[in-house]
Amino acid sequence: MSKRISIGIIGGTGSMGQWFGNFFSDAGHTVFISGRKTELTSADIAKKCEVVILSLPLDAAIAVSEEIGPLLGDTQLLMDFCSLKEKILESMTGSTSAEVTGAHPLFGPFMDSIKGQNVILCPGRGEQWLKWLENEFVSKGAFVTVMNPSVHDRHMAIVQGLTHFLAICMGRTLQKMNMNNSTALSCSTPVFKINYDLIGRLFAQDIGLYQNIISRNIHFGNVLDLFLSSVDEGRDSLLSGQSEKGLLFLEGVRDYFKDSCRNSLKESNRLINTLYGEQ
Ligand SMILES: NC(=O)c1ccc[n+]([C@@H]2O[C@H](COP(=O)([O-])OP(=O)(O)OC[C@H]3O[C@@H](n4cnc5c(N)ncnc54)[C@H](OP(=O)(O)O)[C@@H]3O)[C@@H](O)[C@H]2O)c1
Repeated sequence: MSKRISIGIIGGTGSMGQWFGNFFSDAGHTVFISGRKTELTSADIAKKCEVVILSLPLDAAIAVSEEIGPLLGDTQLLMDFCSLKEKILESMTGSTSAEVTGAHPLFGPFMDSIKGQNVILCPGRGEQWLKWLENEFVSKGAFVTVMNPSVHDRHMAIVQGLTHFLAICMGRTLQKMNMNNSTALSCSTPVFKINYDLIGRLFAQDIGLYQNIISRNIHFGNVLDLFLSSVDEGRDSLLSGQSEKGLLFLEGVRDYFKDSCRNSLKESNRLINTLYGEQ
């Protein structure tokens, strides 16, 4: 494999596409991009690039993979950046004879660097390009985990699905209580302020992406059932009027976090001090 690779990013006009366009250019590769309105088409990219990346919303990625997959040969790599992996991996491996890898960067386009960030790679077909890709990310300081697509999606039902669902529903609660921005800010503790900003962060971005992450994950329904049963348990014990029952519930959950909660306290203090320590 030559060192300078030709990389085509379909959806390279979008936020992740631009971010990774810069990333791969900075690494010395030749990058081509296409969008729906660019002169260069996705078929052009498929024909001329050694590595073809789908940086598109899930449905578009599936449609484009079916369209261009047959144009690629077995010396090329077809890969994607979708936030869910089972469906797109199925589509890419079914539509082409090229090597196939799914990649999920677990960060957004606002990061300055990939250093210290997690990237999950899901093998589809072939080893050579998978190793190349892993090395591209690891050599720049990313933490790469290779994972089966279905296991990835199950983890993402919690990491992304439940996290975003909680932010949305907390936002909805503030809306129902008519807690406006100035009240929220004047009554904020550091922890509430961080949560408030995370709610705002979600609504300042593409809500369609969040809708997809929650509604298209086939594992999220199970996670939501577990969450709702936890809400019932929390209500029964903490609002029972019996302090012993409430404490017993809290102790039970604390047991599960006994090895990590001290470190989480340290880490969250570091975050709070970074955000508010020098104001
Ligand atoms: N944003 C994040 O934080 C993040 C993090 C990790 C993974 N991801 C994943 O990365 C992928 C891209 O996300 P993004 O945030 O970069 O989205 P984005 O900024 O909306 O960019 C999407 C790109 O897809 C193109 N596109 C949209 N609909 C299309 C269609 N029907 N056919 C062909 N091209 C189409 C757009 O091109 P034109 O409009 O120029 O035609 C644009 O370049 C998604 O699968 C997302 O789940 C995102």
